Amino acid sequence: MIDAAANPSVLAGVDGKSSSRQLIDYNLLGTVNLLEYCKQHKAGFVLLSTSRVYSIPPLAALNVTPHEEAFQPQHGSLPAGLTDQGISEQFSTTPPVSLYGATKLSSELLALEYGLTFDFPVWINRCGVMAGAGQFGKADQGIFAFWLHSWKEQRSLKYIGFGGHGYQVRDCLHPRDLVPLLLKQCTETNSDRSPVVNVSGGVKSAMSLAQLSHWCADRWGHRAIGADATPRPFDLPWVVLDSSMAAQEWGWEPATSVQQILTEIATFAESQSDWIGFSK
Ligand SMILES: NC(=O)c1ccc[n+]([C@@H]2O[C@H](COP(=O)([O-])OP(=O)(O)OC[C@H]3O[C@@H](n4cnc5c(N)ncnc54)[C@H](O)[C@@H]3O)[C@@H](O)[C@H]2O)c1
Repeated sequence: MIDAAANPSVLAGVDGKSSSRQLIDYNLLGTVNLLEYCKQHKAGFVLLSTSRVYSIPPLAALNVTPHEEAFQPQHGSLPAGLTDQGISEQFSTTPPVSLYGATKLSSELLALEYGLTFDFPVWINRCGVMAGAGQFGKADQGIFAFWLHSWKEQRSLKYIGFGGHGYQVRDCLHPRDLVPLLLKQCTETNSDRSPVVNVSGGVKSAMSLAQLSHWCADRWGHRAIGADATPRPFDLPWVVLDSSMAAQEWGWEPATSVQQILTEIATFAESQSDWIGFSK
């Protein structure tokens, strides 16, 4: 059983588009339904979790400086579980993590508990930002695709928070690169492996919004980007996952480079005249 069903917005339950109760029904109780199924059928369970399970205050307070229009964490002042290779599984998951993050963290905990109690394999993949052609025109589904489509369609774009410069950094992962890992997990019953791993593109794929804009400008020409320096709840300056444990435990690493991902999205965007309007 692969659980990829969720409301994936970090603002879910608090942005007025969905209630907190509905978020918990979908993200947590939806997972419980699947765990009950796994218990009944002795099926293995794989959860697509998220980097949003990591504690917000130490990430929000990260000491960052801009370098080539992208924030970089400052050496010497990094919180436990974070290196210049990114956030590891040892990083704090202490609340606040957002309601969304809490539904995913609670799902992780219940999944592990069900697996141990009812004896079925459980694997948890904490994914970074997914990026690829065909994602819908919503920032929640992946900021990289949203930015490229919005640029191509001349829709309004703005840098929010952090002084309005767009220096905030994310890494990204093509969902296709998850497939080999999921296939291994679907047939693996060895409980000696670590059940929770980060799965993302890491520092090699990390970019700021400002750098993403340069990429778009090179392909489609310059355009104006708005700025709104007002901070938003749960916004973080630098989120990059260290997937070295996934490499160690599963021999997994991302296969698609960020350049390939962006080119794939851009080529798709060029074949669609109103993808955001059609798919949002
Ligand atoms: N998109 C990302 O960057 C990202 C990053 C990390 C983790 N994830 C996780 O990956 C998974 C897939 O996310 P996505 O970005 O593809 O989002 P998505 O919105 O495209 O997909 C989620 C799917 O879940 C379904 N769903 C929601 N609630 C449901 C319910 N109660 N019962 C049955 N189906 C339900 C929706 O209909 C939708 O098809 C989620 O679990 C999300 O938390 C996504």
